[in-house]
Amino acid sequence: MKNILITGGAGFIGSHLVRLMVNKYPQYNIINLDKLTYAGNLENLKDIESYTNYQFVKGDICDYEFVMNLFREKSIDGVIHLAAESHVDRSIKDPFSFANTNVLGTLSLLQAAKNYWGESGREGFKGKLFYHVSTDEVYGSLEQDGTFFTEDTKYDPHSPYSASKAASDHFVRAYFDTYGLPIVISNCSNNYGSYQFPEKLIPLFINNICNNKPLPVYGKGENVRDWLYVEDHAIAIDLIFHKGKNGDTYNIGGFNEWRNIDLIKVMIKTVDRLLGRPEGSSETLITYVTDRAGHDLRYAIDSTKLHKELGWSPSLQFEEGIERTVAWYLNNKEWLNRVTSGDYQRYYEEMYKE
Ligand code: NAD
Ligand code: TYD
Repeated sequence: MKNILITGGAGFIGSHLVRLMVNKYPQYNIINLDKLTYAGNLENLKDIESYTNYQFVKGDICDYEFVMNLFREKSIDGVIHLAAESHVDRSIKDPFSFANTNVLGTLSLLQAAKNYWGESGREGFKGKLFYHVSTDEVYGSLEQDGTFFTEDTKYDPHSPYSASKAASDHFVRAYFDTYGLPIVISNCSNNYGSYQFPEKLIPLFINNICNNKPLPVYGKGENVRDWLYVEDHAIAIDLIFHKGKNGDTYNIGGFNEWRNIDLIKVMIKTVDRLLGRPEGSSETLITYVTDRAGHDLRYAIDSTKLHKELGWSPSLQFEEGIERTVAWYLNNKEWLNRVTSGDYQRYYEEMYKE
């Protein structure tokens, strides 16, 4: 393989993956296809934008003709597909854009890969790979009973976001079963780290604590998420892309479960300490608000398969990861200010309107 198409490379996880790949593989051409929605930001890739093995292409994965031309023009050999609408709260307000990008966009990429690589029959699939990056949310919700999602857990999505990701996973497997397209899928737990758009729990709350703004905790704050440092996710994707078995699925997670309210208190202490405030003093900002509709109680990933078969484990302890993450947002206030202005502000005014 030589020419690798990464979709959604200007987003949170995509930008970390692009950075890893261009640094680690000078022999590859990394082509980053991104529409630059509110969540995509080329500033996330400033440090590598002049690399000769990196190229950015602005475009919409839903536009099949455009995608097909890109495959031809760049002689694409492999795809790592991350482009998506990714925020559950937005999916509740606007499910159509999730079905459009996550389902139809994925279908358009699959069809282009199949048609381009298969031009001379199935032989053309040799050495090619379509890697679909998905989420643990397709498995639904667990009770507080110590069980985990494995690769065999039945799909049971509850939000429009997870339903759209589940549908896209099914399409990817359908292309493997029906056309023999070489594919691999990974389902990962919640990521945290630098460059995450501040609408998701961790960057939103760090930003609000800094600005002494209320911290909107949904319900009682008892929902549980399994948190993985984003750079560890990028390392896992690289490994699965190169060593994963054709047609297989891998769960990625850090065995790192936190109740939201406990995680929020750790964030508060860390921000307070780094800002020189009395530790815990910002707890007064905690504001319990109406729960999210259809709020999944608990996610927990069993990543034993990835560990046993490909030798992956998370490299970072959570305490260190959260310290690094808080420090990054505090040191990158300009980034935060820019992405939290304009459209983003207007969106929130609309969303939290009574
Ligand atoms: P993100 O919202 O930060 O980034 C998504 C990127 O996709 C943005 O750069 C955006 O501009 C681009 N995009 C959106 N629609 C597009 C379109 N139609 N055409 C081209 N580009 C488009 O998302 P993220 O958090 O980095 O997630 C990346 C992928 O990983 C998603 O597929 C998501 O489902 C999956 N995932 C995310 C998490 C998480 O915790 N964030 C966990 C597991 C899996
Ligand atoms: P989020 O970062 O949106 O990820 P996901 O819903 O995909 O897991 O939310 C993480 C958890 O934090 C989830 O249980 C919802 C909760 N949450 C809040 O309590 N308040 C908030 O303002 C947000 C954005 C999330």
